[in-house]
Amino acid sequence: MAMTLAVRDEAALAVRNEAETPAEPPLHRAVMSVMKILQSRGMDPTINGEEEYEDRPDSIDEYQLQVNRRAWTNSLVLCDLTAYERFTLGRLDAAQHPDRLRWFVDTLVTVRRHNRAQLQLPAEQRKKKTPKRLNGIVSGNIGTGKTAAAIAAGAYGVEQGLMVRVVSHSRYLSWLRPDSAPAGLTPGQIKERYQRCDLLILDEACNELDGYASTFVRTETADLLSARLHTGKGTLLTTNLNSDQIAEVLGERFASRLGSQASLFDILGEDRRQPIRW
Ligand SMILES: Nc1ncnc2c1ncn2[C@@H]1O[C@H](COP(=O)(O)OP(=O)(O)OP(=O)(O)O)[C@@H](O)[C@H]1O
Ligand SMILES: [Mg+2]
Repeated sequence: MAMTLAVRDEAALAVRNEAETPAEPPLHRAVMSVMKILQSRGMDPTINGEEEYEDRPDSIDEYQLQVNRRAWTNSLVLCDLTAYERFTLGRLDAAQHPDRLRWFVDTLVTVRRHNRAQLQLPAEQRKKKTPKRLNGIVSGNIGTGKTAAAIAAGAYGVEQGLMVRVVSHSRYLSWLRPDSAPAGLTPGQIKERYQRCDLLILDEACNELDGYASTFVRTETADLLSARLHTGKGTLLTTNLNSDQIAEVLGERFASRLGSQASLFDILGEDRRQPIRW
């Protein structure tokens, strides 16, 4: 526990340092401009300000990959989910749908590549695509391996060039309250981070919200997921609730919008933690 807290504090401090570190070192201009774009979009995920700038790769793709890996790791640390880092699609059981999860992520990757290539064309000639299934619902009973499956899919996405972050629903909502965000971030910066990444893993969606959710919860949850849908960003949610229960918490309209562009990854089975009963 103490160890986890130490790691989290270190990460929080590192993120803060990052924000306070002046951009001064000699850096390849193209790499620098990518970083500026990422920062201006609230997506600079560099985990700490102590990074050796000389170690940064000259290739933009390589640099982007490094940035994406840091953003991913950082988001796992902030949610105490680093224990799941060991999961890859190859390590999942068939019941966790590794092949379909790969397909879900591959679709996002293909569409993103297409849309980026279109940016080379004059604006009037561009044809933007949006994946048919932007949301993935990883559902199942407690302990069936939902978080492990979603995190494995996220890690795969990072290696395919996506900016992926994970956050638990309750933590996201708590960070939007005044002075509650980690690393001195503002609620606006928190929203940007989780709205703009290419793929968001929203863990334990609505799990701890029984019955009718407060207006704050409904509004912020709907805003996050609608913003992502409107901008063509994929979201993978894990939940113990079925669609009726989600509708009960967040409203029929929301549940309908969520489910209308979604793929279902239903994980059946026993609680893998095999808790003792008494
Ligand atoms: N493919 C796997 N091989 C071995 N262990 C696994 C696998 N998938 C998950 N586990 C382990 O099973 C346990 C439950 O997994 P996980 O936390 O992903 O379940 P969950 O469905 O998200 O649970 P909850 O409903 O509590 O959120 C964890 O200890 C995890 O490390
Ligand atoms: Mg879980």
